[in-house]
Amino acid sequence: MRLALVAAVSSGAIAAIAIVVGVQQTLGQPRAPLERQTLQPASAFNRISDTERRSVALFEEAGKVLTHPRCVNCHPRGDRPFQTDLMRPHQPLVVRGADGHGVPTLQCATCHHNANFDPARVPGDPHWHLAPREMAWEGMTVGQICAQLKDPARNGKRDLQAILKHVREDSLVGWGWNPGADRTPAPGTQAQFADLIEAWIDTGAHCPAS
Ligand code: HEC
Ligand code: HEC
Repeated sequence: MRLALVAAVSSGAIAAIAIVVGVQQTLGQPRAPLERQTLQPASAFNRISDTERRSVALFEEAGKVLTHPRCVNCHPRGDRPFQTDLMRPHQPLVVRGADGHGVPTLQCATCHHNANFDPARVPGDPHWHLAPREMAWEGMTVGQICAQLKDPARNGKRDLQAILKHVREDSLVGWGWNPGADRTPAPGTQAQFADLIEAWIDTGAHCPAS
């Protein structure tokens, strides 16, 4: 009898603890649902002796960055950027306008200033604007992004060295690893990503089949 009572009391207590823990987990859940990913260093691919296969594998690794919400949110197919790790359409409704900086009455810079402003969750950069439509990556496979990245008609007339310079130095690219608020940064580091792209170029810039 006494044993049963102890058991009842303690199981009640456990249930209460479980409820409290459950509530805390829900409240404490970060808004960013993505795990932070790492990148393998370019040197890890030296084990692949076939140069073309090594090139493809290097690009596939870099593809973890290129398909990440931090990049795709600003490289959409349509006129509207995406937001958050969930890639929901931008709120409020904003559109690219003639030059990616928004329409005259609602420019990106109205809200997006020179640096992240975390109290309002607004990301920032002096050049904050949408990637041109021909540079859209939304919904594309890594192989398709690869082919597009090499195509001067769709990459801002860049040769491969200019692409490398862009991924190594551009501040909008760099923002992907310094996104502010609770956004998940792009995988690895910008330097590791640029090293992968450099090694991909050095091995002939071969693209994945899909
Ligand atoms: C705030 C918006 C924004 C974000 C975020 C952004 N980009 Fe871009 N991206 C642009 C714009 C604008 C251009 C066009 C710049 C130009 O042609 O001078 C561009 C162009 C590029 C280009 C060169 C052209 C091509 O082939 O597409 C690359 C490469 C690129 N971005 C990589 C990235 C990567 C990698 C990330 C994420 C780590 C990223 N971008 C995040 C706006 C953005
Ligand atoms: C009225 C204010 C406002 C305007 C104008 C505005 N934005 Fe935003 N934008 C925001 C806010 C606020 C967020 C953060 C939302 C969040 O994460 O909760 C945001 C987030 C974003 C993000 C998501 C970053 C990420 O990866 O989560 C992108 C991309 C973006 N804006 C692009 C643009 C572009 C491009 C323009 C101009 C065409 C623009 N915004 C105009 C307020 C604005």
